[in-house]
Amino acid sequence: MRRDMRHKDFIEIHDYSADEVMQIFEIARDMKADPEKFTTALQGQTLAMIFEKSSTRTRVSFEVGMFQLGGHALFLSSRDIQLGRGEPIYDTAKVLSRYVDGIMARTFAHKTVTDLAEYASVPVINGLTDLSHPCQSMTDYFTAWEKFGHDLKGRKLAYIGDGNNMAHSLMFGGPKLGMDVAIATPPAYAPDPSVVAKAQADADHAGTKMIITTSIDEAVRNADIVETDVWASMGQEAEAAKRQKDFEGWIVNERVMSLAKKEAIFMHCLPAHRGEEVAAEVIDSPCSVIYDEAENRLHVQKAIMYVLMKGRRK
Ligand code: CP
Ligand code: NVA
Repeated sequence: MRRDMRHKDFIEIHDYSADEVMQIFEIARDMKADPEKFTTALQGQTLAMIFEKSSTRTRVSFEVGMFQLGGHALFLSSRDIQLGRGEPIYDTAKVLSRYVDGIMARTFAHKTVTDLAEYASVPVINGLTDLSHPCQSMTDYFTAWEKFGHDLKGRKLAYIGDGNNMAHSLMFGGPKLGMDVAIATPPAYAPDPSVVAKAQADADHAGTKMIITTSIDEAVRNADIVETDVWASMGQEAEAAKRQKDFEGWIVNERVMSLAKKEAIFMHCLPAHRGEEVAAEVIDSPCSVIYDEAENRLHVQKAIMYVLMKGRRK
């Protein structure tokens, strides 16, 4: 029996209960299996999509997702709207709330998204910030849930690389699914301590493990899922040369995959750099599920929009 979720926004997986995460997965599964059933679910609704950073998957999957639900999406580059010229977030949130039924935002500062959520009267969805990327990690766990027969309890996800927005959101997601999470980073690139503390509390509550290490081998041993992400994220272009040096050897290759379980899958949020964080022999091999993962952004985000926005125009 599905209960209505009392969330206005989708900012972090941390904010959602294990039960709510599972409800979103079940809706996403139903939407993927029978999209025709949902073609009027958000009829007449509009989603504003604010982008301070580039995007392929997030932009396209949200826009197509709104269309498939009977609604409409507006692409708003921060370069073109007044926000980019210094109009306050407060006014932007209040004004957009008079026109649209939901806001998805991809920003540099995480606070931009939390401020939007605070001031907007309509739902706000985090489409990636410097701190987190919850739509992507929800999708990654959904993809694993499909692959491993709808039960992830006791399984292990290993993330290798920068302790960045992806690492953070994966740390928040694992405990909700009853999974152990191991994050291996070079010493200077550990995840944010405040995220580690919250994720550790979630893991303690769920009775799962949260391993933060500087050893690739320790993280990946016995893993069911191996994931990585770019060495330099959007906004870190000036550090790219330094990071190239600091991350040397931090590559998911066949040796690394051989330490994981035999049936382990490889994931990457994309875009990827073959030969840097991942070898072509892994990302282009049968264990890689990157295109299912990319497709699932559409289904999972449709489910998220549905739970937040349904009924707003009725
Ligand atoms: N994974 C992801 O968010 O991709 P885009 O940057 O292309 O949206
Ligand atoms: N960590 C990457 C993820 C891109 C989807 C970035 O923030 O650029």
